Amino acid sequence: MSNKPTVPGPSSGHTLWGGRFSEATDAFVQRFTASVRFDQRMYRQDIRGSIAHARMLQQAGILTADECAAIAEGLLAIQADIDAGNFTWSVELEDVHMNIESELTKRIGLTGKKLHTGRSRNDQVATDIRLYVRDEIDVIAAQLTRLQSALLDIAEREADTIMPGFTHLQTAQPITFGHHLLAWFEMLDRDYSRLLDCRKRLNKSPLGAAALAGTSYPINRHFTAEQLGFDAPTRNSLDSVSDRDFAIELAACGSLIMTHLSRFSEELILWTSAQFDFIDLPDRFCTGSSIMPQKKNPDVPELVRGKSGRVTGHLIALLMLMKSQPLAYNKDNQEDKEPLFDLIDTVHDCLKAYGDMIPAIKPKKENMYLAAKKGYATATDLADYLVKKGLAFRDAHEIVGKSVAYGIQQKKDLSELSLSELQQFCDIIRDDVFAVLSLEGSVQARDHMGGTAPNQVRAAVATCRELIAMR
Ligand code: ARG
Repeated sequence: MSNKPTVPGPSSGHTLWGGRFSEATDAFVQRFTASVRFDQRMYRQDIRGSIAHARMLQQAGILTADECAAIAEGLLAIQADIDAGNFTWSVELEDVHMNIESELTKRIGLTGKKLHTGRSRNDQVATDIRLYVRDEIDVIAAQLTRLQSALLDIAEREADTIMPGFTHLQTAQPITFGHHLLAWFEMLDRDYSRLLDCRKRLNKSPLGAAALAGTSYPINRHFTAEQLGFDAPTRNSLDSVSDRDFAIELAACGSLIMTHLSRFSEELILWTSAQFDFIDLPDRFCTGSSIMPQKKNPDVPELVRGKSGRVTGHLIALLMLMKSQPLAYNKDNQEDKEPLFDLIDTVHDCLKAYGDMIPAIKPKKENMYLAAKKGYATATDLADYLVKKGLAFRDAHEIVGKSVAYGIQQKKDLSELSLSELQQFCDIIRDDVFAVLSLEGSVQARDHMGGTAPNQVRAAVATCRELIAMR
């Protein structure tokens, strides 16, 4: 049985690299330098990469067909054990790569030791993270689509629902709730396209770069690239093992997603307050207070807002991690994983929470309408009315400003002033002004692409639905 281990194992401890060492690694240093605690989550990608590498070695005549089959079978059996929770990770074996390789050799003998031919952990880990990030991008993209579809459904339902639109958080002009929700759709849509862009750039195979310079074996990098679903091999071996741009890009995409969700959260928090009272968040997304019996707190949006800082923190950590590294691989790179994994988990959780919560928000239309009535939201409409009757905009602005001041004094909205009251400020005002001063008239007047008119909201929803269907 030539497959049984017949040569001595490593001379120093359990490591796979102990040949030149004369004493075992210090116990603390072993723990300090080990990454298996967190990089074990890439085991599927690691195994996938190893099988592709083994197949390539067979094709190149470096492994026999039997050896390649034994390796692939052995690795898949290990994967099944890890899946089932029947695998013991060992800190002495440092990382996910050496834990799996060492287990493979334990199971299939000498052949296991041939797997690492023409490969280094440097190109191995670079491959694993790219595969991992690519898989996660696909999950995040699907979560974005789910949330965007939910926004489209509500936007369509609420295309006629009037609310105040704000600038400086002061009432500005009436808008429709549907239109407001479509603004969130647009932000998430850019997030989606940024993710795909990141995916496209990362989808090159570093496998074959080996430690840094390539390898002397007759490898076929195109074969492994294709096996792993990469578009092509990377062009430069030094860059291949040291590049973590893709992780930084994903962190930047994640930070923007979180920034958008954080802004969204801020609005939901304001809207659920007694002062705004624009929406109701179902109880299942809220918690109570242990002392104030009346409280219903919007914890989910608050946490999402809070977690946005954490993700942006990880982006900065990754940028700082890279900024002083000389070529090529440095152990610093091992520090990419915890921020990367945590930001991916956080983005997943927050998008999951939003995907569940958004379809369940209930707008309080009456309150939104009454709020839009306050704050002279149709003042611009009155100015536009005067311009259409021949006044210059600046003069119209001045006249409306005076009318608003009068309204404030009388505690009346512009639409509640009588025609003769309005005519005190400008005698060209006629009866037709009241259509313009109504909230409905105001939103309907903004009837162009990108405007808040209910028709336009419905048209935008239809366009966006098509965009999503094409994904
Ligand atoms: N655990 C390492 C990492 O995450 C794998 C690569 C180690 N390479 C090395 N030359 N020590 O980056």
